[in-house]
Amino acid sequence: MFIYAHRGASALAPENTLLALKTAISQQADGIEFDVFQHQNEFILIHDRWLHRTTNGIGNIDSLLLEQIRKLDAGEGETVPTLFEALECIGQSCQINIELKGVRDIPLLLKYVQQACITLSIPCSNILYSSFDHHLLKAIKTISPTSRIGALTANKPVDYAAFAENLGAEFVNADVTFVDKNFVYDAKRRGLKMGVYTVDQPEDLLQLQKWGVDAVFCNNPLNARLALTDSAVD
Ligand code: G3P
Ligand code: CA
Repeated sequence: MFIYAHRGASALAPENTLLALKTAISQQADGIEFDVFQHQNEFILIHDRWLHRTTNGIGNIDSLLLEQIRKLDAGEGETVPTLFEALECIGQSCQINIELKGVRDIPLLLKYVQQACITLSIPCSNILYSSFDHHLLKAIKTISPTSRIGALTANKPVDYAAFAENLGAEFVNADVTFVDKNFVYDAKRRGLKMGVYTVDQPEDLLQLQKWGVDAVFCNNPLNARLALTDSAVD
């Protein structure tokens, strides 16, 4: 089962910082997931629209200039990275899941990532875009049909993974709270890969693996790997 570091290795370093990305790389995570907001013509790594939970700033990200956001402490002296800095940090070391939170300009984002991938020699096939905002995913597929997308849901829809199939998604990524065998099997029947977030309990990891889940998003990728490896030895 493929292990994504969730917001970087966020159990061990402040979430969505370069330190969290580097920690995930050092743990040999298969991939790294992080959250992105657009700020004017730049993209930054942050989970919330409001600054107070993850930085020493206050207010909405749009109420500050980029230079002001970049001076904030995002924990342990880390700053809020730009998307380019994150891509540069990860390079070719593993897969990259860019979760779109507040992004207004999809053409700009696609150009930005494409240019960064060329500059940094990152294969574009290493990038997976995901979002709870399915309109954004649809816009990505319309502009760039070959881009890989993962459709996020915090629900268990009545028709299970149909929404993801309709979007042309590669992955349906669902909340561990609501995932069951039926949801996983439905995704598989539709030819989709199933991802599940956020999974840190060994019992959950083992259950999901038994159901054939393809990827999990974990705050501590090393512990997740050990839990799965230990069970294989038993
Ligand atoms: O991409 C999976 C997961 O990160 C979605 O939820 O709130 O942690 O961004 P959240
Ligand atoms: Ca996320």
